[in-house]
Amino acid sequence: MIKVGLLGAGRIGNVHAKSIVANPASQLVAIADVNHAAAEKLANEYGAQARTVDDIINDRSIDAVLIATSTDTHSDLIEAATAAGKAVLCEKPVDLDLERALACQAAAARHGRPVMIGFNRRFDPNFAAVKRALDAGEIGRGELLAITSFDPAPPPVSYIKVSGGLFRDMAIHDFDMACWIFGAAPVEVSAVGTSIVDAAIGEAGDVDTAVITLRFADGRIAVIKNSRRAVYGYDQRLELLGATGLLQAGNMLENTVAKTTTAGALSAKPEFFFLERYMRAYEAEWRAFVQAVEQGGAMPVTLQDGVNALAVAEAATLSARIGRAVKLADGRPVVA
Ligand SMILES: NC(=O)c1ccc[n+]([C@@H]2O[C@H](COP(=O)([O-])OP(=O)(O)OC[C@H]3O[C@@H](n4cnc5c(N)ncnc54)[C@H](O)[C@@H]3O)[C@@H](O)[C@H]2O)c1
Repeated sequence: MIKVGLLGAGRIGNVHAKSIVANPASQLVAIADVNHAAAEKLANEYGAQARTVDDIINDRSIDAVLIATSTDTHSDLIEAATAAGKAVLCEKPVDLDLERALACQAAAARHGRPVMIGFNRRFDPNFAAVKRALDAGEIGRGELLAITSFDPAPPPVSYIKVSGGLFRDMAIHDFDMACWIFGAAPVEVSAVGTSIVDAAIGEAGDVDTAVITLRFADGRIAVIKNSRRAVYGYDQRLELLGATGLLQAGNMLENTVAKTTTAGALSAKPEFFFLERYMRAYEAEWRAFVQAVEQGGAMPVTLQDGVNALAVAEAATLSARIGRAVKLADGRPVVA
């Protein structure tokens, strides 16, 4: 049984609290949030204590921390927690800034404690089945990957302002998905972004709609489409064309009822958002983390994976700004 401290009691902190408590191999001991009332509310719900971040990190009886605080705190908290001997599961992205993330990676390596990054979509049963089928050779070599990732509605502009922008905050999941499926990092990134959904997002310096193309060294291509607004729900699909076939993972629908009348055929909408669509994935992600901590094995998603995806996000941010493709060399964006 591992003892766990949860840092951050916001939207995703609430999701993770549920997974920690649902797992018989982990115990949610304490929760911290700068908004102490939020920590207290969540702690009361699960019979944990509301404490400060420092108190949790310095408590030797706590084995692991789950970092679910705002993105600008992640590197500092990873460093502090690994220095204190904790195993860490940290939400994406590693940081708002690639150089800071690389420094954090070096510090965590010195401390020798395992760090996993929360790319939960790898644990979605559908996407995991695509990866298994590809790796088993069922469609030959994967050549063209197309990812659709639309949120139902944009977050508040206050969130956008601290999020690092669409490429670091939202598309980063898709960058990791492409790197994971293809088993490599891209060598070139081209991105186009626009704020067509909400002008306030544009005024905050961000985009809400984007298309990104990733080129891999051996010629494989991934195309990612992102939008902060799909009025019918959370649209999360993937299509992989291979040399001998096609793999497709569709949406999870709110129910499986199909209605057919003289007017036509109707099925349910996609599940509303990440809480609904990915709850099983968050639980499986946590199970994988606990198992790796208990067995002392490699983390299923590493800090290197987090850094790779962030490098792609920085390249995409730059590409959208300058209107040209950006190469990645030695893990860093380079403009020719
Ligand atoms: N993997 C996913 O599907 C997913 C989904 C949503 C959010 N996220 C990530 O999780 C993180 C949190 O996002 P959210 O939507 O829950 O945001 P949120 O604003 O709802 O919650 C963040 C919480 O962190 C607290 N906090 C901020 N700084 C802190 C500090 N220094 N110490 C303690 N608490 C602090 C805030 O008070 C807040 O309660 C972000 O990095 C985001 O990218 C991941």
